[in-house]
Amino acid sequence: MKDEVLDITVGSGVYPPSEDTYLLLGAIALRPHDTFLEVGCGTGLITLNAARTARLVIGSDISIAAVQNTIQNARRNGLEERCSIIQSDLLTSICSSARFSALAFNPPYLPSDGFRTELDHALVGGGVGTELAVEFVHQAAGHILPAGSIYVVVSSLGDVKRVWTAMEGHGLTVSDELQEHLFFEEIHVLRGVLPPQRK
Ligand SMILES: C[S@@+](CC[C@H](N)C(=O)[O-])C[C@H]1O[C@@H](n2cnc3c(N)ncnc32)[C@H](O)[C@@H]1O
Repeated sequence: MKDEVLDITVGSGVYPPSEDTYLLLGAIALRPHDTFLEVGCGTGLITLNAARTARLVIGSDISIAAVQNTIQNARRNGLEERCSIIQSDLLTSICSSARFSALAFNPPYLPSDGFRTELDHALVGGGVGTELAVEFVHQAAGHILPAGSIYVVVSSLGDVKRVWTAMEGHGLTVSDELQEHLFFEEIHVLRGVLPPQRK
């Protein structure tokens, strides 16, 4: 698959870059001094785009197939020295003292429907769809630098308000950064910004 600038292959059992991937990519604006963590990196398209700009980039995924796919795509694009790729369940493998200026997750966000597919780990976010996104917000909130941001993709098929409320509960100022209407749902990128540190 050809991104505008990156050459991305999609490994077996890995979520292929889709509308939600590109919506999230379009919402994240990084500067050279930024530090960035992507949870659920999939093929690595977002992580590797970030690695072209930001000074420190980590991509992580619970799926070893996704981790291997991202490493392969990093090498393919000559970006392996500009990012670290790790296997992690949400942020549980991230050092507790690590802080980032931006964290992002395009989570599995669909409510479970009882049917099982080999991509469920990338699609189903729990009974109401947003359980994993909410847990990401709780864990990510402890890793944001002052004035830093977290970005989360949500779908109108899930309980968007829960994610929004979880962000506000951590003192973040929340905005509906980007939206796209798809055939049977609307997807949004929520951005939560931590206030700058008071002197
Ligand atoms: C919808 S896909 C998004 C992939 C990629 N970021 C993109 O936008 O194309 C969700 C990704 O989250 C990963 N994932 C699911 N549960 C996770 C968890 N608990 N911790 C980390 N990653 C997880 C999946 O393996 C999958 O790669």
